[in-house]
Amino acid sequence: MFITLEGIEGAGKSTQAVRLAERLRAAGHPAHLTREPGGTPLAGAIRALLLHPEESLRALAAHGLAQGLAPAAEELLSVTELLLLSAARAQHVARIREWLAAGEVVVCDRYADASRAYQGSGRGLDMGTIVTLESIATGGLRPDLTLLLDVPPEEGQQRKQQARAAGGEWNRLDAEGAAFHERVRAGYLALAAAEPDRFIVLDATLPPDTLAEHIWQGVSRGISSAPGTHPPAS
Ligand code: TYD
Repeated sequence: MFITLEGIEGAGKSTQAVRLAERLRAAGHPAHLTREPGGTPLAGAIRALLLHPEESLRALAAHGLAQGLAPAAEELLSVTELLLLSAARAQHVARIREWLAAGEVVVCDRYADASRAYQGSGRGLDMGTIVTLESIATGGLRPDLTLLLDVPPEEGQQRKQQARAAGGEWNRLDAEGAAFHERVRAGYLALAAAEPDRFIVLDATLPPDTLAEHIWQGVSRGISSAPGTHPPAS
């Protein structure tokens, strides 16, 4: 079974993804936790370039691999962002297929829906192009279940800022304005409305324990109905 978590910044996905993987394992389901962009060494390198381009270029230059490139002198174009995300996804999907073939439940923190929501609804790139690249990168691999953790952008940003003050990661996309995150949220909700059988929309303003419980209920139902699996112990 392939489960993805989606949502805007500060929705608490990453925490919930860890908790879900732990709970699956405790219930006897081997679970592999992964994330996008990333999930493999090469995809992780693309992630660094995407989210922290200046630091990545500086690090490459320090090893003589980016001579003559002045960090910050070049804007990362939206279309390049989409292509890099898609390239990272292609690398990652090859591994996801292996994990699934080995009988693991794959829990992935963001996947192709993120490109539709961020690059499509957020950046305004053509959705047809995004869907074409998605099919090239994924070869048609779709999640069985997608948990959309929905939170208003103001609350998400507030949480992100708090985490940043405590030393948490802050990336290029976190720095986008409220209108961008509002478009991304609306994009996600539209995706969920279009595929109600795959998506479960959850209120991510709930306390983390309550949210984790709602996630577990949704996943348990999904596992019970997946072919060849048995309901987890509660
Ligand atoms: P990350 O630090 O993992 O953010 P979060 O904890 O909110 O998931 O950074 C991933 C960033 O990449 C996030 O801002 C969303 C963005 N992203 C896209 O824009 N498109 C995509 O297809 C994916 C997978 C991520």
